[in-house]
Amino acid sequence: MMKIQFPENFVWGSATAAYQVEGAAFEDGKGESIWDVFSHVPGNTEDNATGDVACDQYHRYPEDIRLMQEIGLQAYRFSISWPRIYPQGTGAINEKGLDYYDRLVDALLEAEIDPWVTLYHWDLPQALHERGGWPNRDSADWFSDYAVTMAERLGDRVKNWMTMNEVWVCSYNGYWRGGVAPGIKDHRQALAAAYHFNLAHGRAYNAMKAINPDLKIGITHATQQHRPLDDKPESLALAEFLWEENNGVFMEPILSGSYPQAIIDRYPDAVPSIGHDDLVEMNNYDFIGLQYYTDNLIRDGKLVAEKLPEFDYTEMGWAITPDGFYNNIMEYVRRYNPKELAITENGIALADVVDSDGRVRDVRRQDYFKTHLSSVHRAIQDGAPLTGYLAWSFMDNYEWTCGYRPRFGIVYNDYATQTRTIKDSGHMFADIIRDNGWMGG
Ligand code: FCB
Repeated sequence: MMKIQFPENFVWGSATAAYQVEGAAFEDGKGESIWDVFSHVPGNTEDNATGDVACDQYHRYPEDIRLMQEIGLQAYRFSISWPRIYPQGTGAINEKGLDYYDRLVDALLEAEIDPWVTLYHWDLPQALHERGGWPNRDSADWFSDYAVTMAERLGDRVKNWMTMNEVWVCSYNGYWRGGVAPGIKDHRQALAAAYHFNLAHGRAYNAMKAINPDLKIGITHATQQHRPLDDKPESLALAEFLWEENNGVFMEPILSGSYPQAIIDRYPDAVPSIGHDDLVEMNNYDFIGLQYYTDNLIRDGKLVAEKLPEFDYTEMGWAITPDGFYNNIMEYVRRYNPKELAITENGIALADVVDSDGRVRDVRRQDYFKTHLSSVHRAIQDGAPLTGYLAWSFMDNYEWTCGYRPRFGIVYNDYATQTRTIKDSGHMFADIIRDNGWMGG
């Protein structure tokens, strides 16, 4: 048997996001976010579930940190709720919000767990949505002012920062397809939002670095790979176009300082005018967080909507495609030559249950982690500059429009009692972290 050995100093951790775990949605002066509003509209989410309480991490973080210690996590990626800090998005600061993140960061450091902070994981203050939200160019300034506040407050203790999470989702699903907050269906607004996300990232990057050049600032991206199952020209062409639409729009400006020509050509009336100075501002990053769940499949020049017998599927209905993870990482390296990559999310939703002996035997999740980590390992061996892996998620949580049904955690959460149980996959992850790898085939 061969040992799958990760490089020295490779970082192991797990991730969550504010609206998915914190709860305390209306406590201690927090303002409303677009998710507070969206999730309260009947019919928008499964079982009309909201994040009002979620995992109650706002109150239970000491217990959660103890569990992280037990698993041996070296890093915990969480996001900051912008309306907890600025209830109206700009203007008056809510000191209690800042105090919460101070306490969380201090408790993590005390436990020798490195805090990795995401500034924006989809919960725009509702007040800013009412001023035009991300389609308004002012959003770049709103965001960068908030980012500076956080860097000033936590920058003495937090080194790793991610400006935004998966802006593909909040641009296209939020403003074009309308499936997530703020639930708008307008292609022009979606492309404007995408542009302003890139601009806001770059503006915040420069402003934070001006305060503290030692901060390491990146952005996370949901890698969208479209895998043609046949080699028909229309399938290959669709895969290439969707790469540019879903990855290129968000990565090319930041990594290469240009906008994908294929998108400008396809949507001449919808792409906002692209300024040279804007591109210079966008073209800034220290690392890219890649997040991977599945490949989208293409057959006969069309996206495959149904489940195919040759694939195994998760509780989200996503095909399990570990080799796609390797291909995807290598495609990033080939196209953009990033200076540093970290896997900031990867995981599987299952319908886990606690057995009568108190154990959660999530065998498929253990298999998912090992096969996907093998892809990460292979990519490292082939030269990908990968420095860490954060599992999604630390614990079962509010999975947006799917509510509490899909369970992604390495820790089980019984929502009725808020009782946490480390799943078998969490124990396996603990072993992998301890050995920086495992004996495998
Ligand atoms: C990603 C999100 C994360 C979680 C996982 C399953 O797209 O960043 O919040 O919902 O998917």
